Order: sequence, then C-alpha cells, then structure tokens
Amino acid sequence: MKQYCESFPKNFLWGGATAANQLEGGFREGGKGLSTADMTPFREEAVKEHRPVMDASYEEIKKYRTDGFCGNFPKHRGNDFYHHWKEDIALFAEMGFRCYRMSIAWTRIFPTGFEAEPNEEGLLFYDDVFDECRKYHMQPIVTVSHYEMPIEITLNLNGWESRKTIDLYLKYCETIFKRYKNKVKMWIPFNEMNQMTTVPYVGGGLLLEKAKTDNLLEVEYQAIHHQLVASAMAVKLCKKIIKNARIGSMIAVIDPYPETCHPLDVLEALKENQLNMFYLDVTVRGYYPSYMARYFQEHDIHIDMEEEDEEILQGGKVDFIAFSYYMSYIASHKRKQNESKNSVIMVDKVNPYLEVSDWRWPIDSVGLRIVLNKLYDRYQLPILIAENGLGADDVVSEDGLIHDAYRIEYLRKHIIAVKEAMRDGVDVIGYTMWGPIDIVSQGTCEMKKRYGFIYVDADNYGNGSYKRLRKDSFYWYSRVIASNAEEL
Ligand code: BG6
Repeated sequence: MKQYCESFPKNFLWGGATAANQLEGGFREGGKGLSTADMTPFREEAVKEHRPVMDASYEEIKKYRTDGFCGNFPKHRGNDFYHHWKEDIALFAEMGFRCYRMSIAWTRIFPTGFEAEPNEEGLLFYDDVFDECRKYHMQPIVTVSHYEMPIEITLNLNGWESRKTIDLYLKYCETIFKRYKNKVKMWIPFNEMNQMTTVPYVGGGLLLEKAKTDNLLEVEYQAIHHQLVASAMAVKLCKKIIKNARIGSMIAVIDPYPETCHPLDVLEALKENQLNMFYLDVTVRGYYPSYMARYFQEHDIHIDMEEEDEEILQGGKVDFIAFSYYMSYIASHKRKQNESKNSVIMVDKVNPYLEVSDWRWPIDSVGLRIVLNKLYDRYQLPILIAENGLGADDVVSEDGLIHDAYRIEYLRKHIIAVKEAMRDGVDVIGYTMWGPIDIVSQGTCEMKKRYGFIYVDADNYGNGSYKRLRKDSFYWYSRVIASNAEEL
C-alpha cells in the first residue's frame, strides 16, 4: 500500500506559472511574428462588465495586418518581461521557487509558422531565460503552445482545423526540444486543451466564419482531434530527443456539481464532466473513450481520422497530468448542455455556499481537493497543479506597500486542500501558482486584474513605470516554500 503522506515531500515543485503572450511584451522585437493573441484588443465596455473578449474577426485581423494596429492592445506590452526577465527571475528565486512554468512564444521561433529555419534571436532569448532559471536551481516547465500561434497559420489554414497545422507544430516542437534538451526536462504540449469548444480562436486559432462547415461543433472537434494527434506525436518526439524527459497533458478543470440531488441533475453533471475529461482520457489512455461515440452521433459530428491515428494516440501517452483550477460550477438538467459548457469564462449560476471574487469567479478550495481525488482515482498518474490563483484589483497603499491579505487567504485555503488531498493518497508533484507576477489577463486583456506576488506598476493603457514591488503575499509565499507548507 502507498505510504500515507503527512506533509509535502522535500522535492515538491513549488513555483509559479505564466504565459508568454500575457507576460513578455517585446512586440515585434527580436524578429517576433504576429500571433493570434496579438489580435485581441482591450474593449472598454466588455471590461466594465468583466466580460471576456476571446475572439477575433477575419476582417479585423486583415485590417491590423495591412493598416497597422489602432487601439489599445495590452498583450503587445505584457508586463515587459522581455526587458525585465533577469530581475523577475531573481525575484522568483528570492521567494524560493523550485520551478517556473512558462511558455515559449511560437512566433519568436517561427514568426509565421511556415519558415523552414527558426529565428535564432528568438531561440537565444529562451536560452538566456532557461540559463537564468538554472542558475537559481529553478526547474523550467515549458508549455509549448499557450493560447497563441502564428496568425498566418490562422489566416492560411484556419488554425487547427487543418491537418497541415500538425506538421508546422511538430517542426516547432522538434526545434525547441533539440535546442533546449539539456535545459528543460518537463514539457506540456498544449495549455488547457479542453477550452477549444469554448474559446476556439484562443485555443485553436479558429475563425469560425472561415470554417468549412456550418456545424461549428464539428469544426471544433476536428481541431481537437488534430491537437490530440499532435500532442501524441510531440510526446513521442520529446522522449526520443530528450533524455529523462517528462511530458504531460493539461486541461482546465472546472468540476460540475449537480444543482440538486435530482438524478437528472446528477446525470447532467456526469455527462458534462465526461466532456471535460475526454482530453485526459485520450492523452493518458491513448484512445477515444466510448462515451464520445454517442455524443458525436447526437451532434452530427464526423471527424476525419487517418488510418494511422489510432496507433499515434496509443504511442504518445503522457507521463503526468496537469490542470488549472480556479473554480467549480453548477450543472442542471434544465439548461441545455451547450449553455453550461465548462469554461473559466461562463459561470452563470452561483453556488449559494461559495463566495465569489471581484471578477465573479466562485472561490472553492474544497473543490480542489475533490478534483485532485477524482483525477487520481481515474488515472493514477502524478499530478501537477499548473495554475491556481486569485485575480484582484490590488492597490498600492499610502505606506507604499500592497496589502493583499485576501490573496494570502485564498492561497492558504487552496494549499491546505492540496495537503488534504495528499493525505487522501493523491500523488501531487507540484503547485505552480498562476501569475506570480502581475501580467495581462487572458480573458479581459486587463492589467488591472492582478494575480501576482509581485506588483507591476502599469495600468490597462500602458501608463506606469513598470517597476516591480513585493506584495505582502510575496513574503508569505516565501515562508510557505521555505517551510514546505508547514507554515501557512
Ligand atoms: C487560465 C489560462 O485559463 O486562466 C491563463 O491558462 C489565464 O492563460 C488564467 O490567464 C486566468 O484567466 P484570466 O482571464 O483571469 O487571465
């Protein structure tokens, strides 16, 4: 029997997680090409309503490409990590980070995605970043594609709708696996694979208006199939090129609770959960789960699969699973299934037992323990909590400090939940808190929605010194890591 785990193991991977498109800035510097994320502007009205903007239109994109950008694009600036990376990594090291989950911008390596040769300047940038991490014994965990891809792939192939995108992605994978094989041992092929049906442009570079059929769900699942095949091929390639590599699959877990004990609500929650687990089921087990056949049939979805796909999926199973956790939600049989898709951006029914954040995201630390137990029961693979955190409107007080007690409280409760799950027997290998330094929000493109332990003096419009300041939570997390969560 597995040993009962009373405390966090000594080699537990404490750290933080970011994504290149929300962090780096350095827009068009160092030979970087235009990405899908570069095309998402700040929309005042949406931000006021905390409504995410995660799409783009073909006309808009073409206009930006020919006439130039007009408006406010916070993701072009990020928090300016591109010019502050040494300082930022030193701050992570000061907190005692043992790992740093980050992503590579595909467009720094292949600016349009179609080049035969990579952009050396882009490769050098990440060489420097990884060397700096290693200087502090901080293990990089790299997401190959985190919510961005070259816009030219979207315009020419409609992103992941096309099977040709698999080859472009694998060329990119091969380049970075070979280049960083001695510097990076842990990899994640895609961020939150399960968001394709909710945010198809963000997750798959898909412009639905350009899709080959009117059955948009079919297009999304076709794109998902291509990503699943690409993920399996990337796993195989990674293991071939990198000695001792560990490569995992990642989804956003937003677990549905049945609204009542009405059996139909329970069934609805189960069915919605299956749709969420589908991605892990395939990447962990190497084949499509049987429940999808009925779903495809009922939604008139026909996936083009090549003969070799079954073998490819079987040959590219992952070593660990990773997930982001921000909230739970409620499933009810009274709503149509598509209205209650699992998504970090569409929590429409508030659980009366939970509080919500300033951005109306339910706060549910016990849910994290539940999810960890469920995932481990299902897969028995090591688990990385790849994202968890609280977006809040932090302010600098008159004393010049940032007193974010609410963030400490949020994280404390979630880490306690992790500890409890480990006592339940779950094999958790790491916790990378989302956004250890303030970055631009993925969903709303705001700088104001801050997650960090480190405050960045910049607003939604790019005003500010971009100076870095330690928040109260910075010192708290340092103590958590130093004591291996004995001190919470
Ligand atoms: C996750 C994404 O879903 O949620 C991140 O992987 C994102 O990229 C995070 O930043 C939080 O969402 P938001 O919209 O608050 O930035």
